[in-house]
Amino acid sequence: MTLHSIFRNIIILSNLILFFSFSDKENRKEIKQEKIWQAPTWADTLINPLSNSVENLNNGKVIYHAHCVICHGENGRGDGESGFGLETPPRDFMEPAIVNQSDGSIFWKISFGKGAMPEFTSKLAKTKRWELLLYVRELQRKYAAKKDKRKFK
Ligand code: HEC
Repeated sequence: MTLHSIFRNIIILSNLILFFSFSDKENRKEIKQEKIWQAPTWADTLINPLSNSVENLNNGKVIYHAHCVICHGENGRGDGESGFGLETPPRDFMEPAIVNQSDGSIFWKISFGKGAMPEFTSKLAKTKRWELLLYVRELQRKYAAKKDKRKFK
């Protein structure tokens, strides 16, 4: 092997390494984007038929404790014991992306599930799923109120 061909091989090899490290980054970006769970836009048009009554909220709380706490945690922070170690863990309901999501979108996600998150259409009647939505909103309101209180201390 001449010195020239050794140099040429080194250049080819380093180009290959560069190429693969870039394409790997691209792949990782795509996987990350796939992990953001988007409901179809028509879900935004679903309107919660229930009022925010004490009775509906209490019903929602009971269902939440029976079916959701195990993964999403008592306060919806995504810290339930079965949520740990999942490849895509349950998200914190206090994240702005979820606080600002439409009722319909969240209702749709509860209904259809994704990955480790089960679907609840076959397990809970529509009204029950709307009661759950009310309770998720209640958890978000409680958290926001607590945060505001801390600000004024
Ligand atoms: C076995 C664990 C598990 C249970 C039980 C479970 N979830 Fe989830 N949940 C998840 C996981 C994991 C995700 C994230 C899914 C993803 O993004 O791929 C998730 C996502 C969600 C989201 C979407 C958040 C976002 O990204 O916008 C909502 C809303 C939700 N869950 C509500 C509930 C409710 C309400 C219940 C109870 C009826 C429930 N989940 C039960 C694991 C669970």
